[in-house]
Amino acid sequence: MRGIVLAGGSGTRLHPITQAVSKQLLPVYDKPMIYYPLSVLMLAGIRDVLVISTPTDLPNFRRLLGNGTQYGLRLSYAEQPSPNGLAEAFLIGADFVGTDDVALILGDNIFHGQDFARRLQREVSTLDGCTLFGYPVKDPQRYGVGEVDGEGRLVSIEEKPARPKSNRAITGLYFYDNQVVEIARGLRPSPRGELEITDVNLAYLRQGRAKLLDLGRGFAWLDTGTHDSLLEAAQYVQVIEHRTGVRIACLEEVALRMGYIDPDQCLALGRKLAKSGYGEYVVTLARNAGATG
Ligand code: DAU
Repeated sequence: MRGIVLAGGSGTRLHPITQAVSKQLLPVYDKPMIYYPLSVLMLAGIRDVLVISTPTDLPNFRRLLGNGTQYGLRLSYAEQPSPNGLAEAFLIGADFVGTDDVALILGDNIFHGQDFARRLQREVSTLDGCTLFGYPVKDPQRYGVGEVDGEGRLVSIEEKPARPKSNRAITGLYFYDNQVVEIARGLRPSPRGELEITDVNLAYLRQGRAKLLDLGRGFAWLDTGTHDSLLEAAQYVQVIEHRTGVRIACLEEVALRMGYIDPDQCLALGRKLAKSGYGEYVVTLARNAGATG
């Protein structure tokens, strides 16, 4: 499976912070926002990743992440000149996807929970059509919303409904088989002028091949869409990291645990950042994993 991180858009809801900097490069406590979704793809076992952003912001993502070999990844980059909708990712990324399955994750979505890697990998290996990830929220009218019947089968999906049929938001992580490219090619822009991801999901639903997996209790899906929610996400990460001593979405750690890099490579990455607490953490975990340098 290949992965796409969609990190474009104009970030108007966070102005003036995002007037000169991409939203997905803003810090969420100790690391840039894009680390969080990128780590999710890595935990799913995905090593080929396309980062899509605006022509202005793309060079900054490239400067931050390079070609990905330092994390054992193959990163490539593509421009989305204007925010024409989430599903445009599959048109921009059609060559990159080729004949593979693909995971799309929004560059501003933060996920954190126990056992996530195993659940993701299970979905990757059993994928049939599409897998969506649901999360209960208090304000479902702000999101794509999924409704399931008594047997847990997905029966409807609506984008930002005025009267939501459930409180299950569809989060910004989507797994698709290769048909998604063809489906995206057949889409018409919605009334708000976008190629909607919800229309892609509806195409799978009509085929009876859309699955909604509940992330459920004990799991955190964090919003970064407003000044308050961005700060609250950073505070969440800070509290968890201080209390547990473990960092969330540390790319070096994920790469090490997934076997994409060895302890010595991890140590070299940590040393480059050693003046920060983040770098010290990477050095320590490399040493604990047996780095000899
Ligand atoms: O976060 C989950 C939600 O994401 C889903 O529940 C909705 O079904 C889905 O439509 C989407 O809703 P949003 O209102 O959050 O979409 P928004 O237009 O804000 O875009 C989400 C992120 O993707 C945002 O960081 C900007 C970026 N983006 C957006 C568009 C439309 C792009 O990179 N390119 C785009 O063309």
